[in-house]
Amino acid sequence: MNRYARIIGTGGYLPEKVLTNNDISLMVDTSDSWIFERTGIKSRHIADATETASSMAEIAARDALAAAQIEPDAVDLIIVATGTPDRVYPSTGCILQQRLGIKNAVAFDVQAACSGSVFALSIADQYIKSGAAKTALIVGTELCSRIVDWADRSTCVLFGDGAGALLLQASDQQGVLSTHIHSDGEFGNLLYCPNPQVSPEANNAHGYITMQGNEVFKVAVNTLGKIVDETLAANHLELSAIDWLVPHQANIRIIAATAKKLKMPMEQVVVTLETQGNTSSASVLLAFNEAVRDNRIQRGQIVLLEAFGAGFTWGSALIRY
Ligand code: ACO
Repeated sequence: MNRYARIIGTGGYLPEKVLTNNDISLMVDTSDSWIFERTGIKSRHIADATETASSMAEIAARDALAAAQIEPDAVDLIIVATGTPDRVYPSTGCILQQRLGIKNAVAFDVQAACSGSVFALSIADQYIKSGAAKTALIVGTELCSRIVDWADRSTCVLFGDGAGALLLQASDQQGVLSTHIHSDGEFGNLLYCPNPQVSPEANNAHGYITMQGNEVFKVAVNTLGKIVDETLAANHLELSAIDWLVPHQANIRIIAATAKKLKMPMEQVVVTLETQGNTSSASVLLAFNEAVRDNRIQRGQIVLLEAFGAGFTWGSALIRY
């Protein structure tokens, strides 16, 4: 009997405060039309001063637990993807474990920037398939607003805050069909966020996101095209087998290029970018949750998740929901 990791619940959280493009145009030299035309973003959610990666993760996780109708104690593996952890250590995974009151689980973080939740999903899938875990909670949670330079128009317009969660459980029914994750440290300087306390960098003492957007854009489009091919080939599937594309939400032009590669109309692509911006590792899980909650994604359908981020890192997951 095959053992699969099957999705049993999804959850999400977006902070209450909304920052529109017009609001940002009062802060830096930009405009609603520039931001929307170049990125597809109109507004994003911004956490208040009391919120942390773990507080947002807890809300998203409880949302997923309620959807799955299981108690926190059923979880035996917690993986949090974040680039904005509450503390250097303990991990945000351990802090989330304490917040949820889960005793018998292993918890840790993964750091793969915007690809983090796809990496977490891949790890959880291996644990479940091998029998090392039964029920896994994965969360992507990000306070991007705390690591962008609000005086830098080339980055501050792109990002938002939020958390997405997914619960996976061992099952003999199909669930995660395959995952594919990759990295190439060669491109580390095209997109990075220094940790000034540990490694001061002369021209970025504050620890802000620094990105050569244009260069990142080109590699992202190319790489995501390749991972679509890799995922379909591994599963001996034709393009037409995919019901939904749930991409990382960085730029509508990158998403449209991947959809084109899949010969998929935009109606089959889940896009949250317009109202959420790029929430880094939270974005794929937030988009997945939204499309499950509004009944676009139905049980039995085939869903392709993909992401690309700093590292560079990139990955995909093919799922029978
Ligand atoms: N408002 C107005 N003008 C702007 C703004 C702004 N907010 N930002 C940049 N510009 C200007 C630039 O100064 C430049 O002006 P110049 O021609 O006079 O020099 C011009 O607009 C064009 O700038 P580009 O950077 O070439 O614009 P581009 O079309 O590439 O769009 C963007 C920039 C949106 C950042 C795009 O490159 C992109 O989306 N890149 C990929 C981002 C991504 O996928 N990141 C990976 C995930 S993030 C993570 O892992 C944390």
